[in-house]
Amino acid sequence: MNDRETSSSPEFSPLAFDEDLAPLPEYKAAGTTEVDFSGLLGEPLKLHEDLKSGCGGQLWPAGMVLAKHMLRYHGEKMKTARILELGAGGGVVGLTVAKGCPSIQHPLYITDMVEMEPLMQHNISLNGLDDRVRARVLNWGEPLSQEIIDFKPDVILAADCVYFEPAFPLLMQTLQELLTLVPTATVFFCFKKRRRADMQFLKAAKKAFTVAEVHDDDRPVFSRDNLFLFTFTHKS
Ligand SMILES: C[S@@+](CC[C@H](N)C(=O)[O-])C[C@H]1O[C@@H](n2cnc3c(N)ncnc32)[C@H](O)[C@@H]1O
Repeated sequence: MNDRETSSSPEFSPLAFDEDLAPLPEYKAAGTTEVDFSGLLGEPLKLHEDLKSGCGGQLWPAGMVLAKHMLRYHGEKMKTARILELGAGGGVVGLTVAKGCPSIQHPLYITDMVEMEPLMQHNISLNGLDDRVRARVLNWGEPLSQEIIDFKPDVILAADCVYFEPAFPLLMQTLQELLTLVPTATVFFCFKKRRRADMQFLKAAKKAFTVAEVHDDDRPVFSRDNLFLFTFTHKS
């Protein structure tokens, strides 16, 4: 067995090419971007992007679609939600939700691997969200921490987490654990199909969960770019 088969996430290099790994949307130098999602955010979200810690250091297309979707269709409904983002990268989705929905009553968790923790924390502070958003390490396939178990998330956000085939079973395991922990939870799952293997993830999700396509007026636009937006809920 080689290293790649045993590792839960890719060795990242902007120039790397690997048949298991989706290429970056585009290679960007480190810098700070502002996004307001066509005016849906009164004050734009500031996101520092830096690829030095991994591919999550820059914005990916499904993150932009899911962030806008949450703002547009779920803002008010998030007030009492216990929100957790998986594979957050720089935190675009979770931070957008926190910024766009100031009335959320619970802390919002953005999670990723340890390498991404400083960037998540930096972006939390850049937007003045230190008292409302927490950056934590959550490695897919590993047992959930006691903090997350006690938090009992009922809204799970995951964008562009389907990009490295060896990690698919790990992501699936974490989603299953989360939906077992809180059977009434909803996973908002957005991904871009880049290779045929990506649809295998969806096939596995359909076996494990109830999968529903979500209404979004932008669907005709994003589906042209092979972007898919679903909810996963517990199969009763
Ligand atoms: C393609 S990026 C997407 C980042 C962000 N959600 C967005 O849409 O812009 C995928 C993210 O998943 C994270 N990731 C990959 N494998 C992981 C694992 N085994 N456990 C936790 N996070 C992982 C990466 O570190 C990266 O930040």
